[in-house]
Amino acid sequence: GTTAALIPAAGDGTRLGLGPKAMVTVGGLSLLARSVAALAPYVDEVLVALPEGLTPPPGLAARAIVGGATRQDSVLRLLRATAADTVLIHDAARPFVPPQVVGALLEAVPETGAASVALPVADTLVRAGPGETWGEGVPRAGLWAVQTPQGFRRALLLRAHEAAVADGYAATDDAGLIARQGGRVRLVRGDARLFKVTTPGDLALARALAPVWDA
Ligand code: C5P
Repeated sequence: GTTAALIPAAGDGTRLGLGPKAMVTVGGLSLLARSVAALAPYVDEVLVALPEGLTPPPGLAARAIVGGATRQDSVLRLLRATAADTVLIHDAARPFVPPQVVGALLEAVPETGAASVALPVADTLVRAGPGETWGEGVPRAGLWAVQTPQGFRRALLLRAHEAAVADGYAATDDAGLIARQGGRVRLVRGDARLFKVTTPGDLALARALAPVWDA
């Protein structure tokens, strides 16, 4: 079957404050260009969802569509824009994708039709109480932080997205939509370098890592 990489890149980057986040550069390459280049070797086509009104950057090795108001809507538009049997969904905002992780994910997808990269949580967890005080401790045993890429049989994920729209259910990732429908999602061990560039601190980390990654 055919495989497509779908890259939601239509976020406005409010928390970073540097314009559309996918276009922010680290080590001379945009977050988007790094994400496209990381997945292209594994797939038959790469599709990206860009903010409305943004012209695709010259030389981008991907087909571009206009994204939606939320990540979830951007992914749904991407799913409808491809006919591939298998899709890898990856946040443009995670520019460092270790090849072994993609390989392990692609091996896991056929088992249940859905798999996500995730990392066991290393920090102590707490739910904040009133006034940013220590509320209730949350045992971290068994908790994993979800990253991307995530891999799916396209038809399975499309049905889960359509059900979410029908129910008005909002999610920050795609595997959660499968689990919500009672589907099994395989967890594949991720990598600290797959962190999402969200805040200025994340951007500083990404800019420090880029020369090491590219060496
Ligand atoms: O905002 P956050 O960093 O969690 O977004 C995750 C990914 O979803 C980013 O790559 C962002 O560009 C993308 N996104 C999108 N459409 C939106 C909002 C976010 O494609 N409306």
